[in-house]
Amino acid sequence: MTQIKIGESIINLIDVGSGPAILLVHGFPLDHSMWRYQLDSLSETARVICPDLPGFGESESESGPVSMRRFADHLVDLIDELEIEQVTFCGLSMGGYIGWQFWKNHRNRLNRLIACNTRAAADSETVARGRRVSAESVLAHGTKMMADEMPAKMFSAHSLQHRANDVELIRSVIAESKHEVVAQAQLAMGERPDATEWLAQIKIPTLFIVGEHDGITPLAEMQENANQVTGSQFVCIPDAGHLSPLENPIAFNQAVIEFME
Ligand code: MLT
Repeated sequence: MTQIKIGESIINLIDVGSGPAILLVHGFPLDHSMWRYQLDSLSETARVICPDLPGFGESESESGPVSMRRFADHLVDLIDELEIEQVTFCGLSMGGYIGWQFWKNHRNRLNRLIACNTRAAADSETVARGRRVSAESVLAHGTKMMADEMPAKMFSAHSLQHRANDVELIRSVIAESKHEVVAQAQLAMGERPDATEWLAQIKIPTLFIVGEHDGITPLAEMQENANQVTGSQFVCIPDAGHLSPLENPIAFNQAVIEFME
C-alpha cells in the first residue's frame, strides 16, 4: 500500500503495474480490499490504481460536505498527484454513482467507463428516507448491525455457501468502518442526482457488468441503463450477486481485460 497526501488528507492506495491506467473505486461501506482478486490479473497489462475513498479503509476523511461529486473531484486530485492524464474508471455500486459524476465533470480525464453493479437513477423518497434512518442508527449504535445484515444482501446464495472467506472479509470491513463516514456517505447517496438523462450523452467506450443474482442493483435495471449508452457492452457474471469482482473474479477479470483490449 502507498500513502499520499491529497489536500489535507492522507490517502491509502495500491498503485501496481504499468500501461493504461484503470481506477478501481469501491462500493459502500467498503474499501480497496473488495478488489483483492483484480490486482494481479489486471496489473499484467494495466496500471491499477485502487484507493480507499476519503474516510474509508485507511484513508483519512476530508473536511467539508460529502457528495458523490466531491468524491469524483477527489479522485481527479489523486490522478493529478500520480501524473496520470486519463483513466478507465471502474466503479462498483457507490463507486458507479461516483463514476457518473466523474464523466459529468471530468470527462477529459476519462477514456473508458466500467459501471459495475450500479444504477443511474437517483433514490426514491422511500429509499432516501431509509438511508436517513440507517445513518441515525449507525451514529447511535455503530456498524455492527449493518455488518451482520449486509453480507446476506450483497452476496449470491452460491457465494454465501462457497466463499466464506470473502463474506467474512466484507463483514469485518463493514464492522470496522468509521461510523461518521458511513453515516455521511449514506446521506450523500440519498442526495445524489439522477444520472439517467446523462446516459445517452456518454460517447466513450462503456461496459456494464452485473451479477446474475444481484438483488441490490438488479440485472433488468442495468440492462435498461446499458441500452441507453450507444455501443455499450453488457456482461452478466454468473453465480454472482452485488459484489461480482469478489464473487466470480475469473469471469469479472476476463470481461474487463477483453474490454480494455
Ligand atoms: C454499494 O454497494 O455501494 C451500495 O449498495 C450502494 C447503495 O447503497 O446504493
